[in-house]
Amino acid sequence: MSGAVEMAWAALKAEAARLDATTLSTLFEADPDRFDRFSAEGAGLMMDFSKEKIDRAALEALIALARAARVEARRDAMCAGEAINTTEGRAVLHMALRGGAGSEAAAETETAAAERDRFLSYAEEVRRSGVADVIAIGIGGSSLGPEMATKALAPWHDGPRVHFVSNVDGAHLGDVLKRCDPARTLVIATSKTFTTEETMANARAARDWLGASAGGRMAAVTAATDKAAEFGIPPERCFAMWDWIGGRYSVWSAVGLPLAIAVGAGAFRAFLDGARAMDLHFREAPLQRNLPVLMALIGIWRRNGMGCGSYALIPYDARLSRLSAWLQQLEMESNGKRVGLDGELLARATAPVVWGEPGSDAQHSFFQLLHQGTDVIPVDFILAAEPVDGLPGHHARLTANALAQAAALAFGTPEGTEAHRVCPGDRPSTMLLARRMDPATLGAVLALMEHKVFVQGTIWGINPFDQWGVELGKVLARDVLERIESDVMEGLDGSTAGLLRSVRDYGAS
Ligand code: F6P
Repeated sequence: MSGAVEMAWAALKAEAARLDATTLSTLFEADPDRFDRFSAEGAGLMMDFSKEKIDRAALEALIALARAARVEARRDAMCAGEAINTTEGRAVLHMALRGGAGSEAAAETETAAAERDRFLSYAEEVRRSGVADVIAIGIGGSSLGPEMATKALAPWHDGPRVHFVSNVDGAHLGDVLKRCDPARTLVIATSKTFTTEETMANARAARDWLGASAGGRMAAVTAATDKAAEFGIPPERCFAMWDWIGGRYSVWSAVGLPLAIAVGAGAFRAFLDGARAMDLHFREAPLQRNLPVLMALIGIWRRNGMGCGSYALIPYDARLSRLSAWLQQLEMESNGKRVGLDGELLARATAPVVWGEPGSDAQHSFFQLLHQGTDVIPVDFILAAEPVDGLPGHHARLTANALAQAAALAFGTPEGTEAHRVCPGDRPSTMLLARRMDPATLGAVLALMEHKVFVQGTIWGINPFDQWGVELGKVLARDVLERIESDVMEGLDGSTAGLLRSVRDYGAS
């Protein structure tokens, strides 16, 4: 870490200590125009962060930190296709999948456009073909994005039914197979590596279920086209990924094929256009008005200034029910790290725990803790000004609930009520407002979150594009599977051996 960065962190700490002594109510009393001062717009989205516990000086300190961490230079390096994923020696070019954020990385942008034409024309072919069901097999980044977006864009879903199967629990695939007819089903196996245990086990089972016609009823999305060919998927139904696309940043590629089959090529292109609008905003807007940068800085403030270990994502949109699952991978797999780019242990906390459920349901489950619990858990709300469709009168109620919750968290109960009724308030939240949750808006929201995570990784000094932490579990699972099959326990730790014996005994009883 450079001296300038350390100085910026020290300044931030001083601001946090100063503001710790005040409350959101006091900040609003002192500055009734906070909403104007602490809100920003870009790519069709408006972000109100006036209910975050910051003031002008704190925001300046945060912007100074972003500058000291050279956020803009690193962003430009990403756009230019530099190998900023240093632990894997790869470029990071998910922006090329939606047309790029500038004229750089032209070769990859062109490659991506050609493959996009190919997979979208295949999606249209499938939609016309009489296929009734699509089973999309993949896990993590090869599933969460298209699954979440297919749910989110349900009003545009006019193609075949799409089922997402990720879990290696045979119940996941088994329950889907029961509802499908092999003669009218397309199976898409999505795996960048085409080696992921769960995906390959599910793909093999689906291939067996399809029977003799399997070759004609399967497609693949992968960077390992040779492995897909060996598996029996012909090249014309094999769609590319590249090592410059991380799994959790891949919904924009052919990984989004199930989504494209569901909503059609036009809606899928609109989804990409929305993301590109956010890319351009991220590239061009000054830091003080740059939504991804501001969102990242608010996260840094909550985590490193206020010491919050988690935050909740609460979309007031029932169709965004899988958004927090997608964001969990994006944020926690990207920035859940304790070693910096220089290989040294980091001095400060990195990614918080991300969790959440749609409002208004969440109000009737865990919001009690958000209002009166002992921990301060900041909230990111998402709300659309108008519904895509729905029943009359519902959207006003939904909106009222979202705004009321944000106000209740910030300002709490008036003084003087009995202690157990008191909501202390002073609990921060940010509201992201869209016009309506259409494909372009969804694209912009997801790209906003991708860039936010990138900016945070830059400020924390980590590489958000690798995920070495998940490898150990995979290796151990292979070893344990061999032991289940061979019943050999030697060399295992006492607990795992005991559990394996118990599994065997319980299974036999
Ligand atoms: O285990 C983590 C992970 O590597 C994710 O990063 C990735 O999205 C997922 O597994 C699936 O990998 P693949 O697309 O290679 O099957």
